[in-house]
Amino acid sequence: MRMYDIIDKKKRGSELSTEEITYLVDGYVKGEIPDYQMSAFLMAVYYKEMVKKELSVFTDRMAKSGDMVDLSAIDGIKVDKHSTGGVGDKTTLVVAPLVAACGGKVAKMSGRGLGFTGGTIDKLESIPGMQTSISEQKFFDIVNKIGVSVIGQSADIAPADKKLYALRDVTATVDSIPLIAASIMSKKLASGSDKILLDVTVGSGAFMKNLEDAQKLAKSMVEIGENAGRKTVAILTNMDVPLGEAVGNNIEVVEAIETLKGNGPKDFEKICLEFASYMLYLGEIADLENARQMVKEAIKSGKGLEKLAAMVKAQGGDESYIYHPEKFTEAQYCRDFIMSEDGYIVKMDTEKCGKTAVILGAGRETKESMIDPRAGIKIYHKTGEYVKKGEVLATLYASDENKLFEAMRYIEGVYSFGTQKVDPQEEILAYYP
Ligand code: URA
Repeated sequence: MRMYDIIDKKKRGSELSTEEITYLVDGYVKGEIPDYQMSAFLMAVYYKEMVKKELSVFTDRMAKSGDMVDLSAIDGIKVDKHSTGGVGDKTTLVVAPLVAACGGKVAKMSGRGLGFTGGTIDKLESIPGMQTSISEQKFFDIVNKIGVSVIGQSADIAPADKKLYALRDVTATVDSIPLIAASIMSKKLASGSDKILLDVTVGSGAFMKNLEDAQKLAKSMVEIGENAGRKTVAILTNMDVPLGEAVGNNIEVVEAIETLKGNGPKDFEKICLEFASYMLYLGEIADLENARQMVKEAIKSGKGLEKLAAMVKAQGGDESYIYHPEKFTEAQYCRDFIMSEDGYIVKMDTEKCGKTAVILGAGRETKESMIDPRAGIKIYHKTGEYVKKGEVLATLYASDENKLFEAMRYIEGVYSFGTQKVDPQEEILAYYP
């Protein structure tokens, strides 16, 4: 078999055989296929895509390029949740404890921030003492004991994806629907859960900028999951505006705590309730209607908050921060971004909002950058709202004054204003299937 022939075949839009896909994924991981040939192959997939069977085989090989986690030491049905990325997305911090409070099991491996999108692990690590890298045995014990543990993905989960993602990043092939589907699902399949809930984000702060592409991505990922024998459901959510009011790390943890107390922003709370209900439904704990009631009750009774505190304690974190979020200290510098004339917010560029947070220090400019847990943005008004001159649109936080000044200039590009009323944004756009 020759890589040249495989590239040529894909370039012409033909379907690759299982043997050809195995040859190219395994060969690339072993270093036998050079980056330049894999780059050409990725670009061929970008234009010619992959059919259902090819994509399932490709994803399966990527998953099996490293450890396939066996979660059978944890009792019950394990349900995973994954978001395709967003700005202000702290849903795991709320949803995972709520599911555990209602009797579900969540053994979750999460990621760090990627580009302008934040990552759950960076957010969790803003809690003093919190460990996100623990032994497999401890991870299993915590889930068996309290129902939930969230840790960082180990280096051996889908190493093929790690190598391919780095290459896609520099060859303009990240925004390919089959490649995104394979990248995400390879990690989900390797992480071992029985069922998968996917949050496919759509809009200016997501990889998928329109509903049509998001539906195509949702369909591809659900088909990959089902072909691998894992029941998979996708919920398409709006990322044309940031999720909730906080974008950063410790300020997002505080918002998650407030949401578990029933005081969270309504858009964020709605999404969390729906995800937690679907996870209970997939975990066969309750039907959807009952699940929705159970989740609301877990907020009202404080049981969801107790689960978050228990998980933080079990992973070495200081649980007093969960009950007393005022202990999280604010960044040294802050500044308000103020409305300069009366008008409606007609549009937000949510990707730019995420990039503003990165400039402030909440994300990484380079792979080696350190996260500033206190940096970020609090957003008070979003698309569809009428705002008067002099009102505060957002507050920016940073530990470095120069970064704050740079971000103050950058955030101007986030908002488009007008005199015409526009409808506020719907949070949930569609379900697949
Ligand atoms: N997230 C991933 O893990 N992979 C992609 O390709 C895009 C988003």
